[in-house]
Amino acid sequence: MTVASNLQQTAGQLKAITIGPVIFLGAPGAGKGTQAKRIAERYLIPQVSTGDMFRDHKSRGSDLGKKAQGYMDSGQLVPDELLYQMVEDRLNQPDCARGFILDGFPRTVPQAEWLDQVLDAKTFSGSPMQPVVVDFAVGYNQLLQRLTGRRSCPACGRIYNVYFQPPRVSDTCDVDGSRMLTRKDDAEEAISKRLKEYEEKTLPLADYYRRRGRLRVVNGEQSADVVTAQVIAAVEER
Ligand code: AP5
Ligand code: MG
Repeated sequence: MTVASNLQQTAGQLKAITIGPVIFLGAPGAGKGTQAKRIAERYLIPQVSTGDMFRDHKSRGSDLGKKAQGYMDSGQLVPDELLYQMVEDRLNQPDCARGFILDGFPRTVPQAEWLDQVLDAKTFSGSPMQPVVVDFAVGYNQLLQRLTGRRSCPACGRIYNVYFQPPRVSDTCDVDGSRMLTRKDDAEEAISKRLKEYEEKTLPLADYYRRRGRLRVVNGEQSADVVTAQVIAAVEER
């Protein structure tokens, strides 16, 4: 068997797996996006990142993007009413039929309650499925270094870090050679607002999902490969 047909067969086998809903919780900079890309690739399911969706709306200059921009740039949560239709439309797309990774949604208890209702009405390959919720635990100093060092590729979305995961050539994406960008909300003032919002509004979600027996906590300070292995274990434990 050639390497190519082997890979095709592997992809075919993975494609058949129904993963259901996976929710990534964690502070800004905890590694949700980094891990979501890896897990999405492994199981051929989409990464549904509300932050990326809003950034896409912003870059296209849509009404929704314009409404979200001020909140995002200053590090505040976008109001719930701007999220629900966007998220529901995305989860109804055909590529979500076997499962999806929610990266950055829900972020408040009302959002989690809304999502519970949406998930209760859904089936995955014909069966109802409860979410697996992975919470990435990372300490404050590490978060600050990760956020100030983050760079991302505007073309392919790959995430780098000047301290921990630098590209081979400074400021240049390894994959497509694009010049990398720093997110506007990775400026110091916005970072402290985002961390405050997280503590006040998102931290209570850990308890919300713990009480429902859904929560898996992963030490997000380990190397990205070790974290990925532990997320895979949590997802497949179901
Ligand atoms: P969003 O884009 O989701 O931002 P966030 O939650 O602040 O999270 P980040 O994307 O900053 O961090 P991450 O956990 O993805 O970390 P990453 O993998 O990049 O949301 C942006 C804004 O949109 C919000 O502030 C809000 O305004 C709005 N919004 C979005 N969803 C919303 C919602 N549900 N409700 C209301 N408003 C909403 O990693 C960070 C860095 O660390 C990278 O440089 C990476 O290379 C590095 N790194 C990752 N893993 C490791 C590791 N294991 N070791 C060393 N370095 C690592
Ligand atoms: Mg992210």
